[in-house]
Amino acid sequence: MITSVSELTRIRQQHLPLIEARLNREKAKEERHILVCAGTGCSSAGSHALREELKKQVEKLGLGGKVKVFKTGCFGFCKLGPIAVVYPEGIFYCRVQKEDAADVVEGVASNRIVDRLLYRDPTTQKAVRHLKEIRFFQAQQRIALRNCGVINPEDINEYIARDGYQALAMALERRPEEIIAAVTASGLRGRGGAGFPTGRKWALMAAAPGQPKYVVCNADEGDPGAFMDRSILEGDPHSVLEGMAIAGYATGARQGYVYVRAEYPIAVDRLERAIRQARRAGLLGDNILGKGFSFDIEIRLGAGAFVCGEETALLRSIEGRRGEPRPRPPYPAQAGLWGKPTVINNVETLANVPVIIRRGPEWYASMGTVGSKGTKVFSLAGSINNTGLIEVPMGTTLRQIIFDIGGGIPGGKKFKAVQTGGPSGGCLPEEMLDTPVDYEALAEAGSIMGSGGLIVMDEGDCMVDIARFYLEFSQDESCGRCTPCRVGTKRLLEILKRITSGEGSMDDLQLLENLSRDVKEASLCGLGQTAPNPILSTLRYFRHEYEAHVRDKYCPAGVCPNLTRRPVLH
Ligand SMILES: Cc1cc2nc3c(=O)[nH]c(=O)nc-3n(C[C@H](O)[C@H](O)[C@H](O)COP(=O)(O)O)c2cc1C
Ligand code: SF4
Ligand code: FES
Repeated sequence: MITSVSELTRIRQQHLPLIEARLNREKAKEERHILVCAGTGCSSAGSHALREELKKQVEKLGLGGKVKVFKTGCFGFCKLGPIAVVYPEGIFYCRVQKEDAADVVEGVASNRIVDRLLYRDPTTQKAVRHLKEIRFFQAQQRIALRNCGVINPEDINEYIARDGYQALAMALERRPEEIIAAVTASGLRGRGGAGFPTGRKWALMAAAPGQPKYVVCNADEGDPGAFMDRSILEGDPHSVLEGMAIAGYATGARQGYVYVRAEYPIAVDRLERAIRQARRAGLLGDNILGKGFSFDIEIRLGAGAFVCGEETALLRSIEGRRGEPRPRPPYPAQAGLWGKPTVINNVETLANVPVIIRRGPEWYASMGTVGSKGTKVFSLAGSINNTGLIEVPMGTTLRQIIFDIGGGIPGGKKFKAVQTGGPSGGCLPEEMLDTPVDYEALAEAGSIMGSGGLIVMDEGDCMVDIARFYLEFSQDESCGRCTPCRVGTKRLLEILKRITSGEGSMDDLQLLENLSRDVKEASLCGLGQTAPNPILSTLRYFRHEYEAHVRDKYCPAGVCPNLTRRPVLH
């Protein structure tokens, strides 16, 4: 039980050598750590069996005191899993199977690198030995992901050794309004999609009358293909719990809830363990660190409906009711869970909070652009060599992300578009590749930052079909409460299907545009208000593809089955 700040510091000192042995080559004395990714991607590729086999081999060679095997969170390179990294050198092995364990351990013991397990650069095909030499990692700046792939997420002491819960201790020595002022000065904006300033949200909540108050962490993550929040929860759950406790102190709440979808069993398990450990350590519960502040956290499971990520629907779902959005105002900060003031923040937003408090708002605000500070986590998917999870400073251009970090388009194909923001976002063409990732710049270009899904399309993708895909998703996920969204998305989808099957007319293009604008304006919640974005952005930048489908009955990408015959040119 940690009852004071000095006790927290003592625990940190006690466990620091373990982390130093891992990360600091100078201080490492003969001790090697093999970190095996235990994220969802690597787990399903067999990382659990690999870890067990590595341990067996360590025993077999009698290396017990010298080589240690740990589980860790996602490195971001899930496609190449299972991943194992040997520290302190940082030797990066990928696609490591159980059968490779003997070679890995023997290599560690004899200072030999297992060449066949090294990462190969997609353009040069050269093997790269160290994590730090891989382009994918070099251009990143990991703040929300600072501990993912570095610590064992199931051991609170490893988090504490990495300065964990220091920010909470620092916060409890200051007044709540000073904490809100620091978060405001950092320029942190919500990472769940809307980009609302976090400090302002906390100030509204702190000023709201009524008790009890609640802090809710939104870990619903419904965007298809997105796994940023899941990876943070799996790789570093304590950073989210610490962020929630700080939010609770700053805004006057004593109870927190994490709303997470049941399809994330590893994340749920790590969260449960982390909450238990934090309670046992006295970092959650009554009179935290002897400072008179009490805060506890519980988990609430969601059934995985996209609309339940919308904040008012999420609150209803926690209350045990049907997850349907309601009109705002009143905002949750005024009347949220059970009618009481509630602050809702995304996982990534909360994971940033402890670092902001510990390192200061100026440090955080020194990264990024004028309106978008800090870093952003993106998941790269689609037609890109390095699919995976990355974190970059705001202001990095889409070109840098796709071609430098993502390694470009595989198979020598030509880039066509990048879709940002999931079903609520839009598609940007090649001429927009120099757009910086910044809330305003992306919106101006006709897309959005969203929660950080980034899907790359090449010449083999049909943009009309892409719009159809996203609309089908939104239409399926519409809760049906309001007519513009329920009926409007259905009609939009019918028109898109007409066009992709070769039965569309030029009038349909105008109808699509007009109806899209109506659905955006008249829908009750963000789902309907943003559902037409994929249509509007593809109409803006890829109108010629729509016209080819309608006029020439031809799909230039060769995707739409009825429209693959080239038109006869007169
Ligand atoms: C249809 C819909 C789905 C959403 N899904 C999520 C989600 O999965 N996770 C999330 O954090 N925010 C989601 N949001 C945004 C939330 O309503 C809310 O703005 C956010 O959780 C606030 O936290 P932040 O300020 O830290 O971003 C969604 C919004 C809409 C309209
Ligand atoms: S906009 Fe769609 S999802 Fe939102 S309340 Fe209306 S019907 Fe439901
Ligand atoms: S799950 Fe292992 S690298 Fe992502």
